[in-house]
Amino acid sequence: MPNEGSYEAALKRSDEINADLPLHPQNYTMLTGDRPTGRLHLGHYFGTIRERVRLQDLGVQTNIIIADYQVITDRDTTEHIQDNVYNMVMDYMACGIDPAKTMIFTHSAVPAENQLMLPFLSLVSEAEMERNPTVKAEQAASGHTLTGLLLTYPVHQACDILFCKGNIVPVGRDQLPHIEITSKIARRFNERYGQVFPDVAGLLTSTPLLPGLDGRKMSKSYGNAISLCMTEQDTAKLIKKSKTDPERNITFDPENRPGVSALLTTAAICTGRTEQDIAEEIGMGGSGQLKKYVTEAVNGYFAPIRERRRQYEKDLDYVKDVLHDGNARANAIAENTLNEVREAMGMVY
Ligand code: TRP
Repeated sequence: MPNEGSYEAALKRSDEINADLPLHPQNYTMLTGDRPTGRLHLGHYFGTIRERVRLQDLGVQTNIIIADYQVITDRDTTEHIQDNVYNMVMDYMACGIDPAKTMIFTHSAVPAENQLMLPFLSLVSEAEMERNPTVKAEQAASGHTLTGLLLTYPVHQACDILFCKGNIVPVGRDQLPHIEITSKIARRFNERYGQVFPDVAGLLTSTPLLPGLDGRKMSKSYGNAISLCMTEQDTAKLIKKSKTDPERNITFDPENRPGVSALLTTAAICTGRTEQDIAEEIGMGGSGQLKKYVTEAVNGYFAPIRERRRQYEKDLDYVKDVLHDGNARANAIAENTLNEVREAMGMVY
């Protein structure tokens, strides 16, 4: 890994913060978010949503941005965006995000946040943006031309994090370059104009990535993802048609048996058991019995979450209220920060 040194440092910092969080939750403000391009799935839930709920319940100031402007970094349409945004709010709340504690809001509703983009863009060089490995990977994966918005979106994420003075951002290792650019922007701003922004750290998630049902990266486009909003029947169907292999005896071997192993990992994460334990229990029961076990594990774990989600689906007005309230709070905070920025820069007339 080329970034081994900085990774070690980031991990150390993240561990220190994790140890301090339960002791001084009031010292931390978390900001993270999602692009509203579809429904949340099990990968999102175990990868990050559960961690957000934990931080929220510890008493950390928690903020979630539904990054609607990020949708158009690499696509040419905003089709279904309203529906996706409302459903994302429902998914969050069903999972335990409490809008009384966590501010949920969208980019497009908070002009002052977006305005930070102008001073922030002046603090980074073209070369810095062009060598961001995450941007490159995303551009390659999307097959879309590199738009100006995709190139500069790490700076936009710095606006997301810094407008509310966020100082912790839960991230996977591959997202660390974003945290680095955000810290750089904060530091450079403070050096040039005076102290306004905090020190930002990534909170590295310890949960390994949950694979899709076929062992590949979990993605809606591969059809290997179980969405939180799926019914029990649709969940059963998707698991049933997932690809395993002809060997009857069930063993955990991600390298050679990606399908069987992904099913075991899915069941393990939902039950708290180990993959090996489950594999041993099923043994010669074969993939039919394994799939039955996975289906029950997933449907069992998500039953209360899905039940809550169904209640929110029936109350769209409430969902809209939550978002309007979050947007209003975000606007107030963003106006404040932007005023501090204007003052620091002497742009007061
Ligand atoms: N890029 C994130 C995603 O694709 C969403 C996001 C937007 C975000 N702004 C952020 C994450 C700021 C962390 C911090 O899901």
